[in-house]
Amino acid sequence: MKEKMIQLALEARKMAYVPYSHYTVGAALLTEDGEIYCGCNIESASYGATNCAERTAFFKAISEGKRNFSAIAIAGGMEGEEPKEYAYPCGICRQVIKEFVKDDFRIIVARSLTDYKEYTLSELLPFGFGGDSIK
Ligand code: THU
Repeated sequence: MKEKMIQLALEARKMAYVPYSHYTVGAALLTEDGEIYCGCNIESASYGATNCAERTAFFKAISEGKRNFSAIAIAGGMEGEEPKEYAYPCGICRQVIKEFVKDDFRIIVARSLTDYKEYTLSELLPFGFGGDSIK
C-alpha cells in the first residue's frame, strides 16, 4: 500500500498548477477504509491563495464525507524533474492534518518509490494546538 501511495503522489505532481514557483507537489491520502485521495498544489497570482497538495487531498476527501485517515504520502520537486529532496508538509498543512488525524497516522515523504521517510504527526508538529486544547 505504501508503494502504491508513493506512486500516486508522484503521479499527482504532474497535475500541479505552478506557473509561479515551478515546484510541483503531489500527495496521496489513504482513508481507513482503503481509498486513496490524491492532490496537487494549485497556485494563485496572489500567492497567498495558493493551496498545497496535502490540503488539496484532505479537502477532496473531507468534502466527500471521509473522516478517518491512515497515512499520507508526499513528493515534491521542480517541474519536470524527479524529487531531489524530501518534501515536508508546511506549517499550515501540519495544522490541517492535526484537525483530522489520530496518533497512529503516518506521514511519508518520498523521493522515489524506494527512498522515503516516515513520521508521526507529533514528530512533525510537537506541542500542537488542536480541538482537545479548547475543551
Ligand atoms: N507546497 C505544497 O504543495 N506543500 C507543502 O507542504 C509546501 C509547499 C507548494 C506550495 C507552492 O505551490 C509551492 O509548493 C512552493 O512553495
